[in-house]
Amino acid sequence: MAYSQKLLDYFQNPRCVGEIVDASGIAEVSNPVCGDVMKLWVKVADGRIVDAKFKAQGCSAAIATSSYATEMIIGRDVNAAKSITKEEIAEALGGLPAGKIHCSVLACDAIREALK
Ligand code: FES
Repeated sequence: MAYSQKLLDYFQNPRCVGEIVDASGIAEVSNPVCGDVMKLWVKVADGRIVDAKFKAQGCSAAIATSSYATEMIIGRDVNAAKSITKEEIAEALGGLPAGKIHCSVLACDAIREALK
């Protein structure tokens, strides 16, 4: 299975890249197997995520899923954001090859960690 056009677009033109100086929560997570890293900044107001930015170092699937997940949590209620699954992220990007499913775990872990 190859990457979808949508996934490649999020890899080549990642959205929401950067940092938030006055973030409400910050998380840095890494994949113990491959060493890929994602850092996520979130700004929360009235129980809702009003802004989110990320930086990641890793494979194309890790960059694309991190970018997509960061974009998708903006505007969401904190609890709704915490319940996002890796399957949801992978599906929204047209699916991931079997050996790349773990790449979407970074984003899920970072979201939960930043919103603790
Ligand atoms: Fe490490 Fe994709 S290979 S997250």
